[in-house]
Amino acid sequence: MSIQQRYDASASASPSSFHTDFDGDRYNDHYVNGVGAEDAQIIDGLVGWVVDQLQAGTLEPHSLEGPHLDVGPAKTRHWPAILEVTMAPGAQLHEVEFGRGNVAGLQKALLQPLDQRWLPQEAAMVAAGGGAYGPYWQGVLQRLRARSVVSQGSIYDLPRAHYGSGSMFFVACSIASSKAMFDAAVAAFIRSLRPGAPFVAAFMEKSQGYAAGAGTSFPACSVSKDEICEAVARYARVDLCERTTALSEGKVREGYEAMVDLAGWAR
Ligand SMILES: C[S@@+](CC[C@H](N)C(=O)[O-])C[C@H]1O[C@@H](n2cnc3c(N)ncnc32)[C@H](O)[C@@H]1O
Repeated sequence: MSIQQRYDASASASPSSFHTDFDGDRYNDHYVNGVGAEDAQIIDGLVGWVVDQLQAGTLEPHSLEGPHLDVGPAKTRHWPAILEVTMAPGAQLHEVEFGRGNVAGLQKALLQPLDQRWLPQEAAMVAAGGGAYGPYWQGVLQRLRARSVVSQGSIYDLPRAHYGSGSMFFVACSIASSKAMFDAAVAAFIRSLRPGAPFVAAFMEKSQGYAAGAGTSFPACSVSKDEICEAVARYARVDLCERTTALSEGKVREGYEAMVDLAGWAR
């Protein structure tokens, strides 16, 4: 089931309230209960895109030099696993997170055994990869831990043309209270990638804000699928941009219209 569906829609807060208050534990408590229908669709779409590239030879397994980027992970580490198959041996995964509690949580998790509650996400990736390619995702969450370097930082301050691949899940749409801030976050993410670097991402469509912490509501920018694709296409070649049609039964709330998963290449 998807976290995004579980938060009550709430009025936007000022962006300044967002930074350090994000309650990643609350977020995870809702999220790690399994893979929701929307998450499964996003994983299918994005792992399917990676498999297409492997089949076409546009991506080679374990070939891309790092560092690789996951921006705004909260306390989750499964989304960058979609691209782990592309990462060269020894290449690092840089997890750049603004919330200080989340940074501490990500670091602490590296000192503990892999939280088994994340294995359904890995299993969904193995299934999405199919018989020939699914094995690339077997054990990916454990492998990713060895690559992880966690740091506190902002998407708006990412270095230019630095990363060999990237992932950004529900960040640009979930930290901005204006279209200008959304566009700037998208630009900062893609421009941080080296030209030609692949990336995967997901967004909430038409989000009205959400709560993630006691009494804390977070800003969101209401953007349509077309606006999302256009914002990304200014800086990238977009291969895939699709809305989720699946809905986790009984979990739908007001406050957004769909999720959008997207894959492409930085220009
Ligand atoms: C909606 S959560 C998404 C978490 C995770 N990627 C996922 O898909 O479950 C948004 C995340 O962005 C982080 N964040 C907020 N402002 C940020 C900024 N300026 N730069 C990077 N991350 C930021 C928040 O702390 C939070 O972890």
